Amino acid sequence: MALQIVFFSIFFFVSFTIAQGVRTLNVRNYGAIVDGRTDDKKAFLRAWNDACYQNGGSIVYIPKGVYMVGSVEFAGPCRGPIMFLISGDLKAPIGPYSNVENWIGFQHVNNLIVKGGGTLDGQGPSAWPYNKCQKTNNCDPLPISIKFDFVTNSRIESIRSVNSKNVHLAIYGCNNVNVSKVDLLAPADSPNTDGIKISRSADIRITNSRIRTGDDCIAIISGSSNIDVSYVYCGPGHGISIGSLGKYKNEENVNGVTVRKCTLNGTDNGVRIKSWESPYAITASKFLFQDIFMENVRNPIIVDQTYCPHSPCNQETASYVQIQDVTYRNIWGTSSSQVAVSFECSKKFPCKNIVMTDVNLAIVGGEGPLQSSCSYVKGRSFGRQNPPPCF
Ligand SMILES: *[C@@H]1O[C@H](CO)[C@@H](O)[C@H](O)[C@H]1NC(C)=O
Ligand SMILES: *[C@@H]1O[C@H](CO)[C@@H](O)[C@H](O)[C@H]1NC(C)=O
Repeated sequence: MALQIVFFSIFFFVSFTIAQGVRTLNVRNYGAIVDGRTDDKKAFLRAWNDACYQNGGSIVYIPKGVYMVGSVEFAGPCRGPIMFLISGDLKAPIGPYSNVENWIGFQHVNNLIVKGGGTLDGQGPSAWPYNKCQKTNNCDPLPISIKFDFVTNSRIESIRSVNSKNVHLAIYGCNNVNVSKVDLLAPADSPNTDGIKISRSADIRITNSRIRTGDDCIAIISGSSNIDVSYVYCGPGHGISIGSLGKYKNEENVNGVTVRKCTLNGTDNGVRIKSWESPYAITASKFLFQDIFMENVRNPIIVDQTYCPHSPCNQETASYVQIQDVTYRNIWGTSSSQVAVSFECSKKFPCKNIVMTDVNLAIVGGEGPLQSSCSYVKGRSFGRQNPPPCF
């Protein structure tokens, strides 16, 4: 594994700097029409298929210009590493397209780099009015803008996503994927536009990114482990969330999440852990939230194990998700509500080993002193604490 990474780095250094043995496949040479109206999906796919067939590694190159691209899956496994270089701007088709899961998908690829500074415009305003998922559980979700399924040892960097119809970037079944310098943008009131959604994945790092959107900036759900989030700016949005968890059968544990050096500004939540009152038992453990600045955040620190965005949804009287070993360290800034710290844990599986060190928040607008609220939680606190802790 380590050797493979070393080899891979040397390969990219040598080949992509002096371009030896690497083929560049320009989508224009595959018939892409750069008018922002003609569907270029077939040209992109032909370039991808040639790249995927190269042993020596290749670059799929999308030069500057505006391209309309229908829903497309770039599938592996491929013979060599691929760089998908998006210098141009891609536009999704107008409308909901709820018959497809993703707009741009990459699946079963190893050693992929997606970069280039281009913008992916999901044309969300033409789709959001068709979103029924906010009101009912029986709905067809709109397409995700960029989806990685079973992608390994890969990176996505310097990409902009605007107005995704649904989630901007989703990572599923992946291993060792680094996300950096992504800029994700959608209006505060756009429905279900999570920034980055991670599930069933391990060793995922998100850094130096800015997320301004209508739903969670980052959502880390079932089966995620060893996730590292750092230097992320979030807001507007619903904050950085672990969960929601425990809604479905066959969910897997979430273990090992670090969120550090992040800024949350004007968000509904700061750092949140949420689970449903359903009978599916999993563990959510080993989380560290450190060096986080909050500005005007409604619920800066929140654990909500009675999560239910639209009732009725309770199948049980308590959540079966066990939350444990969670540390909050050096969190400061302002709260827009009085209850700045809230632990509403499960009465069946109370939160345990929660550690708070140096949490220093103040209220915006001066509505009086801040409070903590605690139910079914065991923890300890150290250092400075405002609001005063309830354990
Ligand atoms: C991702 O970043 C980590 C830490 O910097 C590094 O060890 C790893 O090799 C990177 N992975 C890829 C695929 O670039
Ligand atoms: C938070 O957002 C407000 C309003 O957009 C802006 O004026 C302020 O500079 C932001 N704060 C930070 C830390 O970015």
